[in-house]
Amino acid sequence: MKYIAERITFSKKTSIDCIVVPVFAEFKLSAIVKKINILSNNYILEILKKNNFKGKIKQSLLLYQVPNFPSKKFLIIGCGIKDTLNRKQNKLIVNYTINLLKKYEIQEIIWFLTDLKIKDCNTYWQIRDTINIIEENIYIFNKFKKIALYHLLKIKFNIVKNNEIIYHNAIKHAQAINLGIEKAKNIANLPPNICNPKYLSIKAINLSKKYNNIFTEIIDEKTMEKMSMNAYLAVSKGSKNKPFMSILKYMNNITDKSQPIVLLGKGVTFDSGGISLKPSKNMEDMKYDMCGAAAVYGTIYAIAKLKLPLNVIGVIAGCENMLDSNSFRPSDIIKTMSGTTVEIINTDAEGRLILCDTLTYIKKFNPRYVIDIATLTGACIVALGDNISGLMSNDKKLSDYLIQASLETDDRVWKLPIDDKSYYDQLKSNIADLTNSSNSNSGGAITAACFLSKFTKLYKWAHIDIAGTASKYVEQKISATGRPINMLCQFLINITYNSNNKL
Ligand code: BES
Ligand code: MN
Ligand code: ZN
Repeated sequence: MKYIAERITFSKKTSIDCIVVPVFAEFKLSAIVKKINILSNNYILEILKKNNFKGKIKQSLLLYQVPNFPSKKFLIIGCGIKDTLNRKQNKLIVNYTINLLKKYEIQEIIWFLTDLKIKDCNTYWQIRDTINIIEENIYIFNKFKKIALYHLLKIKFNIVKNNEIIYHNAIKHAQAINLGIEKAKNIANLPPNICNPKYLSIKAINLSKKYNNIFTEIIDEKTMEKMSMNAYLAVSKGSKNKPFMSILKYMNNITDKSQPIVLLGKGVTFDSGGISLKPSKNMEDMKYDMCGAAAVYGTIYAIAKLKLPLNVIGVIAGCENMLDSNSFRPSDIIKTMSGTTVEIINTDAEGRLILCDTLTYIKKFNPRYVIDIATLTGACIVALGDNISGLMSNDKKLSDYLIQASLETDDRVWKLPIDDKSYYDQLKSNIADLTNSSNSNSGGAITAACFLSKFTKLYKWAHIDIAGTASKYVEQKISATGRPINMLCQFLINITYNSNNKL
């Protein structure tokens, strides 16, 4: 979809499919509607009054051929009481409007809803929000089921005041980030018979062919064996799909190559639970257990598109958790790459096993920050629901940065503590250094993070549990959300420009 920002002026010759304008309660008109109302000899106001248009949110009126005005359709959107709109309501309005545009199969639009003042949101974020919501709304995964589709093609935003740069930056950022989100969703929505660890590695290789500042390295099973990544290897033992770890190096800061930011994604392409088999109800949703990996891929994609002057290493820990006679089992003891031994209690707590060895491996990059993104625990969904990701960290500054980016993008996270001894007590084993799963069924999101923290002592690290947020049910059907790509990209944008205002 194309987005343009322009200072809109109308002449009789301009041919426009549709213009979208806001109207408030009590027939209060926005600046643009006032102008058009005068141009049309009070036609608009009369129609509004005739229809008793209340201007409520989720109320609309479609007009055809307004006198003296060049647009074919004229879509009036209720925006509530003037000057009271907040960010949440604005998002509702945008989503509602897009649904209408889809219903009427409108293709090109001039959009005046971003002219509105919003209490808790500036123009930059208004544009970012608008594009996000539109892209989220129009996304369709139609790889396996061809549907005749109508396409919204072009949206023109009106530039108010001398804000050109703000509009253009917001569009640039939003489009790149949404491209990353779209690419991530397209991978995540694939079934596990197509999207396996090898497939993820091919995607990583192809990305390095597309951008000449991305370099990909693939670590296969043999190489993992040489490095004694025994925890990672154990998980994949029961699957004929071999494990592949993909390293995506985005190198675009030539002056300082010293300390890259490392993003690590859990890429379990199917999590059956292994010998600790999951119940069959909703087991199909476990194809989404690679959404952390997809988010890393999408983030690298987006920042490469943005050409951020940074060095970021994306690590995709691809693996499949299956069961057969080669599978690892409850009671096995595994010596991890770091030397720490782990007693397996539950083969379904596999994410932390592939991550712990990868966290050890990435020390070699001398990372400035490490952020892992993983659909790690059902307990995180119990704790925070399905719209807020869990954040756990050993570094206050890093978690503050991430929280700031999450507030800005409204891609929400909530910080959980990992500094209490009681959590670590739950990971004690009689015969090994750690167990991979606590016997208690409380605080599961946290104990999982505490397990990981045993392997991240040498650097600044944050863990984002996206078990609840990576996929969601819409009309009883589950699909990938692309979260937390928006937040991660924003974090990287903020790091780059090191200011509160993203410009
Ligand atoms: N991939 C799951 C976590 C998950 C659950 C993601 C539901 C999305 C939706 C993870 O590998 C898992 O099975 N975790 C176990 C851990 C337990 C055995 C300690 C869980 O949450 O039950
Ligand atoms: Mn599992
Ligand atoms: Zn899993």
